[in-house]
Amino acid sequence: MSMEQNIAQILITEEQIKNRIRELGEVLTAEYADKDPVIVGVLKGVVVFYADMIREIRVPCQLDFMWLSSYAGTNSTGSLLVRQDLKTDIRGRHVLILEDIFDTGTSLDFTVRHLQEKGPASIKICTLLDKPERRRPGITLQADYVGFTIPNAFVVGYGLDYDEKYRNLPYVGILKPEVYEK
Ligand code: IMP
Ligand code: MG
Repeated sequence: MSMEQNIAQILITEEQIKNRIRELGEVLTAEYADKDPVIVGVLKGVVVFYADMIREIRVPCQLDFMWLSSYAGTNSTGSLLVRQDLKTDIRGRHVLILEDIFDTGTSLDFTVRHLQEKGPASIKICTLLDKPERRRPGITLQADYVGFTIPNAFVVGYGLDYDEKYRNLPYVGILKPEVYEK
């Protein structure tokens, strides 16, 4: 069974992603000129977006990564743990978090709180996808830069997975419900 057969609809094409990343790149290049930012990626859904996005941010910068894991179960309201922390000392530094998707907001909220404790000069969030309808009540955090605001559907591709699969699709697609309802 090919991956493509399980995609109901291509929501965002490769070309749309590329164009949007170029636009965001111009904004972020202006924002971070002379700020020597630390660009943080939260593994592993962000890897594809991260690799494309950083090449459009044309300023000197440092790259670093964090890896979170769920403390209990796989349910996204469960508490989170830092499985791998940054290696960079971000005290007094400008931090730009890149994320694949801002869904319930649990992981971004946790990430921002965790990084805030390290005393950075600033923290901003750039997320490729934003699903505002799914936000958990009580989360007031907002993304500073959003690639695409999408409806409440489960999407895969361009780094996003279902059961660790589909991350390598070059576009963002909506998975056929029968794939995960079976
Ligand atoms: P949160 O609910 O905002 O904390 O998002 C947690 C994580 O759930 C994200 O980083 C993604 O890995 C995953 N996620 C949320 N929505 C989707 C989706 O539509 N497709 C694939 N993964 C998703
Ligand atoms: Mg995932």
